[in-house]
Amino acid sequence: MGRVNDKVALITGGASGIGLSAATLLAKEGAKVVIGDFNEEGAKEAAASIKRDGGEASGLFLDAAKEESIKEAVDFTVQQYGTLNVLYNNVGLTNLQKDLDVVNMDLEEWDRLMNVNLKSVLLGSRYAIPYMKKDGGGSIINTASMAGFAGDSIRSAYGASKAGVVNLTRYIAVQYGKDHIRCNAVAPGLILTPAAKNNMPEEVLGIFEKFNALPYHGEPEDIGNAVLFLASDESKFMTGQTLQIEGGHYIGNPTMSDFNAFMQQQQ
Ligand SMILES: NC(=O)c1ccc[n+]([C@@H]2O[C@H](COP(=O)([O-])OP(=O)(O)OC[C@H]3O[C@@H](n4cnc5c(N)ncnc54)[C@H](O)[C@@H]3O)[C@@H](O)[C@H]2O)c1
Repeated sequence: MGRVNDKVALITGGASGIGLSAATLLAKEGAKVVIGDFNEEGAKEAAASIKRDGGEASGLFLDAAKEESIKEAVDFTVQQYGTLNVLYNNVGLTNLQKDLDVVNMDLEEWDRLMNVNLKSVLLGSRYAIPYMKKDGGGSIINTASMAGFAGDSIRSAYGASKAGVVNLTRYIAVQYGKDHIRCNAVAPGLILTPAAKNNMPEEVLGIFEKFNALPYHGEPEDIGNAVLFLASDESKFMTGQTLQIEGGHYIGNPTMSDFNAFMQQQQ
């Protein structure tokens, strides 16, 4: 018996990276999984791969920037599998070229990232909740980011949108808890998805690793496993929480590295 046996899960942005890992793990543990992604071919390939491994899955086109598309994905899930127990709002975008500091950032990019990263969470939940209510409850899982807990020199919209996800998670949890609907979030630190590996220079990856408390990077499965836990009844007394999964990157005193270098110089 799997940990999420016969639960029906919709995962946004599930064709690659963290979403794909969560979809694969949920399916392995018995869930019927719908993968919605902008990359329709990737979503369908991911579903086919899950089926080849003996699981149940469907892939479809989803644009998380569009209300109608999100509604269609939710409706499709219920038509296909009869219910919706788990919604994983995973889609999120960042843009290092246009999402800059407050004075210089592109305002259209601000709107786009707020829409895709934050409003999509509202919309997915808005359309999933009535089905969940009708069928006795469910689990909504959102993807925040450690960028929602700390300031940075750029990525103002990304950080603000992800901080919004953290608190929207609490609002959903408070508003629908009595309907047996739980809502939690994961906040990843840097995770070595294929995109991160391809796009980030080795030196930058090295800087991130150096500041982790643990001596290694995060992998998509590190988040996927947390999503599996939050989707399952193992987390049935947990709601409104954001799990920070970041290798201890943000737990130390930020002056520690310079302070240690200073102390070494004194010896
Ligand atoms: N990878 C990290 O280091 C990291 C760190 C913190 C937070 N996150 C968050 O985790 C989530 C997943 O990130 P990832 O690194 O796995 O991303 P990814 O780029 O590997 O995958 C994202 C998926 O979303 C799809 N997508 C993009 N825009 C879409 C849209 N408008 N509608 C539907 N699908 C869309 C893409 O096609 C892709 O399959 C995001 O919310 C991201 O902000 C990632």
